[in-house]
Amino acid sequence: MAKILVIGSGGREHAIACAFGQFGHTVFVSPGNPGMSGDAILAPKMDFEAIAKYVKENEIELVFVGPEQPLADGIVDYLQERGIDVVGPSQMAAQIEGSKAFAKDIMKRAGVPTAGYHVFERFDDADAFLQTSDYPQVIKADGLAAGKGVVIAQDYDAARSALEAMMQDKVFGESGSRVVIEEFLKGWETSVFAFSDGEHFVSTIFSQDHKPLLDGDKGPNTGGMGAYAPVRSAEKYRERIDTEIFEPVLKTLREEGCKYKGVLYAGLMITQDGPKVIEFNCRFGDPETEVVLPLLKTDLYKISRAILDEKIDEIKLNWDPGYAVTVVAASGGYPGTYEKNMTIQIDDGLRHKIFYAGVGQDGDHLVTSGGRVMMVTAFAPTIDSARQAVYEDISRVHFDGMQYRRDIGAKDSSNL
Ligand code: AMP
Ligand code: GLY
Repeated sequence: MAKILVIGSGGREHAIACAFGQFGHTVFVSPGNPGMSGDAILAPKMDFEAIAKYVKENEIELVFVGPEQPLADGIVDYLQERGIDVVGPSQMAAQIEGSKAFAKDIMKRAGVPTAGYHVFERFDDADAFLQTSDYPQVIKADGLAAGKGVVIAQDYDAARSALEAMMQDKVFGESGSRVVIEEFLKGWETSVFAFSDGEHFVSTIFSQDHKPLLDGDKGPNTGGMGAYAPVRSAEKYRERIDTEIFEPVLKTLREEGCKYKGVLYAGLMITQDGPKVIEFNCRFGDPETEVVLPLLKTDLYKISRAILDEKIDEIKLNWDPGYAVTVVAASGGYPGTYEKNMTIQIDDGLRHKIFYAGVGQDGDHLVTSGGRVMMVTAFAPTIDSARQAVYEDISRVHFDGMQYRRDIGAKDSSNL
């Protein structure tokens, strides 16, 4: 059994820790959160240097990086140079998420189906383009913006205010000094991960995030309010997704000296012309991980080793045949401003699993400390029974201001 350090602190990292723990490995998580303490050993929040020291001192055999920020900051390059085994893409390869212009450019050269686009670095050029465009248009800040840097503008006025916010008011900081303006794609959305060793890859089951705050996909976009897996209606596109999307993009990265080793997330729109890429992320999705990893019946440590050894083609992923549904319990006011330090109370009788995200500790009880507080997750043989189970469980969770969507996994999007 191995000793593993997971980097990150959210529901995704809690699910990653459980995926390793399920196979008997010892899991440390930095910084984690107090809600994970039953599933992992909490390590302090550390900079790269301290992480390298901690790994050596605790004889950790593998580091697995959850979130995009440390990847974009080069954690993999740093640790590798010090002889530490770490799963995740290099800083250069992580640009597939860190810069939308980089991602679009790679997709173009790889011939990967995606929305048509233009990149602008000057406000006046972008504005001139928007004045003569058809609508809707999709306006994206180039850099990382915590999933909030995308505006679907229905007319010129909305497009111009989005542009002003990103390029002039810098609401996303330097992330908005360059913008990508994209064709609006019609269809239904799904996401899928590839485990890539740089040379080969294997793709996972499909899942579906629910990004808007309110039922019926209304309200502002969030980091994700819930997810379910598997999305069986996406299976018929798997071969096309593997051969028209993952294979060419990984090959192009490799040929350009930017081998991609780690988890590659593809956010897809299934359009009338087939699957097209909305975005790539350089990591597992959140909250998709909370439904995909609990269904994975292959040891994530074995998968990680195969990624490092460039033997992922020897791995066959096994899946539980059932369904998972996760519902995010969020603080009142999220995704805007919200209060923290609300006491969390959980009644007896919880039947499934909670992955904790924005929680802290006050004495002997958990309190809220973030926008997305926890991901209540249930598993069952059918999607309907998993939905029923997750809503039974979440009715046992209480904190002041708590909000959640009631319709996670309720629609079969492929019929839209
Ligand atoms: P992203 O942060 O790139 O995942 O975008 C957030 C959400 O905006 C996506 O989940 C889609 O629902 C929507 N979106 C992004 N790009 C497009 C596009 N080109 N056409 C239609 N919807 C889009
Ligand atoms: N669930 C979308 C993301 O992780 O970016």
